[in-house]
Amino acid sequence: MASTPEWATARALADEEVFTLNVNGEQRRVTCSGDTPLLYLLRNDLGLKGSRFGCGLGQCGACMVLLDGHPTPSCDLPVWSAESMNIVTVEGLSAGDEMSPLQQVFIAEQAAQCGFCMSGILISATALLRHNPRPNEADVCAALDRNLCRCGAHTRVIRAVLRAAEEACPNSV
Ligand code: FES
Ligand code: FES
Repeated sequence: MASTPEWATARALADEEVFTLNVNGEQRRVTCSGDTPLLYLLRNDLGLKGSRFGCGLGQCGACMVLLDGHPTPSCDLPVWSAESMNIVTVEGLSAGDEMSPLQQVFIAEQAAQCGFCMSGILISATALLRHNPRPNEADVCAALDRNLCRCGAHTRVIRAVLRAAEEACPNSV
């Protein structure tokens, strides 16, 4: 197999910069090209594997994170555009080992099958409940519109979000 020419390696390194990201309340430094998708850095450099790679095109929601509180796909988001923002991944929704009330309700309702889509769904549902602590079913469906679930767990997911809204204190989702 042909090895990478030295000039190509040198050029790739020359394109790299240091970025400081605020992830789950911590400052994290990464070195990469500014066009690197945020998801790659979260998973490969920072070890935060909860955000998933699904479509890679911003269309399935598996990779969603909160960016300044807004649910946002991270698979097509260049790192330079996230540098000054507060990034929260699904790992950041819990306090240490203690899951958020929303996460606990998802377990109680068994609101998942394979679980691949769940981190993105939890991110979107968290943003919804922080913005609208008493959503109705239509609000939940609209908020989760960008999160695909190929297992078809939608009914249980909606039930879980509505139950969390009933049980959880505002701002503690
Ligand atoms: S993997 Fe990012 S939206 Fe599908
Ligand atoms: S639970 Fe399998 S994709 Fe949603």
